Amino acid sequence: MSSSPYQAILDKLSVEEKTQLLTGAAWFATTAFEHAGVSSVAMSDGPHGIRLQEHESLDMGSARPATCFPPAVGLGSTWDPELAIRVGAALGEECRVEGIHVLLGPGINIKRSPLCGRNFEYFSEDPYISGQMGAAWVNGLQSQGVGASLKHFAVNNQETFRMTTSANVDARPLHEIYLRAFHHVITTAKPWTVMCSYNRINGVYASQNEWLLNTMLREKWGYEGIMVSDWGAVVNRVEALKAGLDLEMPGPSNGPAILHQAVLTGELDEAFLDRSALRMIALAALADKMPALDKYDAEAHHALAREVASRAAVLLKNDNNLLPLDPSTTQTIAVIGEFARTTRYQGDGSSRVTPTKLDNALDALIEAAPNAKVTFAPGFIINEGGPEGEKLRKEAVELAKNSDVVLAFLGLSGADESEGFDREHADVRVEQRDLLKELTAVNKNVVLVLSNGAMVTLSGWTEGAAAILETWLLGQAGGSATADIIFGKANPSGRLTETIPVRFQDTPSYVTFPGDYDEARYGEGIFVGYRYYDAIELPVSYPFGFGLSYSSFAYENVKVTSNASGVSVSLDVKNTSGRDGREVVQVYVGALESRVSRAPKELRAFKSVEIAAGATQSVVLDIPREELGYFDPLLNEWTVEGLTYRVYVGSSSRDIHATADVQVEGDPFTPPLTTSSTMGQWFDNPNGAKALTELLAKHPGLPGVGKSIPEPGTVVFKMMAGFRVNQLLPFMKLDIPQDELDAAVAKANQK
Ligand code: BGC
Repeated sequence: MSSSPYQAILDKLSVEEKTQLLTGAAWFATTAFEHAGVSSVAMSDGPHGIRLQEHESLDMGSARPATCFPPAVGLGSTWDPELAIRVGAALGEECRVEGIHVLLGPGINIKRSPLCGRNFEYFSEDPYISGQMGAAWVNGLQSQGVGASLKHFAVNNQETFRMTTSANVDARPLHEIYLRAFHHVITTAKPWTVMCSYNRINGVYASQNEWLLNTMLREKWGYEGIMVSDWGAVVNRVEALKAGLDLEMPGPSNGPAILHQAVLTGELDEAFLDRSALRMIALAALADKMPALDKYDAEAHHALAREVASRAAVLLKNDNNLLPLDPSTTQTIAVIGEFARTTRYQGDGSSRVTPTKLDNALDALIEAAPNAKVTFAPGFIINEGGPEGEKLRKEAVELAKNSDVVLAFLGLSGADESEGFDREHADVRVEQRDLLKELTAVNKNVVLVLSNGAMVTLSGWTEGAAAILETWLLGQAGGSATADIIFGKANPSGRLTETIPVRFQDTPSYVTFPGDYDEARYGEGIFVGYRYYDAIELPVSYPFGFGLSYSSFAYENVKVTSNASGVSVSLDVKNTSGRDGREVVQVYVGALESRVSRAPKELRAFKSVEIAAGATQSVVLDIPREELGYFDPLLNEWTVEGLTYRVYVGSSSRDIHATADVQVEGDPFTPPLTTSSTMGQWFDNPNGAKALTELLAKHPGLPGVGKSIPEPGTVVFKMMAGFRVNQLLPFMKLDIPQDELDAAVAKANQK
């Protein structure tokens, strides 16, 4: 008997009704059963604003206006979970007004390659920060009584062949890189729903992946919410339901008929329908409790979008403190580049929001500096070269010659990055690169302002710019936020969540992304992003975690301690400048001398702290012991290795201000031994060494090799250590009865 509080409701539903409950009634709504008291759950995209379409269509631009907050690429760059909570809560308010019970986000897939078309929807190349930001966003949204849909579960890191590709990934990267953030969000923030991905994982579609949906998500992680399909991701409805996929979206579809038929033929046990239907009834009950709201304060939400945007932009370069510009002087400022007035503020696809209003940088700059002479030249036509573009370039260069400062707004176009396809390269178009080179040849004070949803390479064309502000995609208030930064109303504190390599060819997945047809081999393993650049000591243009400020900071009194519960770092950060600012303290940890391959260091904690001019702020960062673990394929489990860990405290992955070594006690490490394990593995385990020695002592072998096992450490031992035990015994002319072997295995595996 089910102990579910919803059993009585379930009992009121016929088999047919249960099958309908497990399939959408419409594109974004589930089926209601009034007689049983089950109401419809309304959903909407997601994630950085509500895409509330009045009509079902693939025209993503036809939605009702909603606040377009900075997409994840921007929000992630703030490195501030507190902001993500506030954005989540604001989105929740808008959902309550619009009657949306579940908002389809956040997207927390890893940026494996800079080319993934949806990178702008994801937070980072690093799972730790992705998990922290994702959990905060979910907490903020769900604090309003609105549910999240964590997506896309899992290993969805490319758009090429996204409906069919198999992400072929080994156990360690699967757990340590691709599932890690999901685990964190699911276990700490408990999203109401999780959305599966379209792709396959090691050959099996996510939507019907028993291991992923049942073993990991439900059994290991204890997830109790709804597992929903990405829109159209179900391949075999019966297999999907059995594997744990509760809700097929969108509807209507032939899913109910298929399920019903399968129950009638006995292919599907009705218990599977009941299991998922109970979860759906629970979701509908949560949705019923969503507190309605009459209206939200659109101006306040726009102001929040502006605040987040000003925190998201990353100042990469600022020679001679060119920025901030003084808005009160009468300098001449040439604003160059079409993107200054045709704002890039989000990417394309299902996440596209119709904004409530849209600030552009050009207007915002003019407004912010009434005494300055601000002039504009488009400089290029978006996505076009040709004679007209040439003419615009020449005009722009002329303008630059006669101006005190040049603000060059360059980047990628909307057509360059979208859901559904990947980029082919990481370059800004050649006309824009040439334009910048010409501008910097005639003017020393060029500020490059970049708009792009994923990394573009900067080496070879941006060197002449005195300052570079990477604004990513900043949502509807990005234009005014950019002006805030340029004139110093906001002090930049964004940090890179993805490395900018010198060359695109340097990226770890360069030769394997996106794979051939529908097979993608994740050959770089755990060495994704900075883990790879650090491992091979490759120079990069701008490292992970990097970002400048108008303030300067000093790290003092750094103390690192370790105890049974983990590692603790404390320090004082001093703002050594005359300007209030924000520092993002980052802690990386590397294992010295590990038994498995490790990245030199991995992000394990961070904190964004606001510090007044001249003031000092104490910061404490705690790293729970389990954060130091790795996934051991022999144990098929996470484990913490007992060894010396190096703790790096810095303001980026390559700007380390202090290091300290700490000793951490390890978990017992006794991987199960079989006769197929090597002799070396048996000897690494005290019980194994004893069992094998005893076994061999009982059986006389060839003179010299038989009975006596060579002394550990000798060349012969090392040579033999790699042999499987069941391979070694015949070599030694030993024919040991199976029951004795079984007994030795049992003894070896005794805890
Ligand atoms: C996307 C999801 C989105 C869904 C509903 C899918 O194509 O992959 O991210 O939430 O459509 O629009």
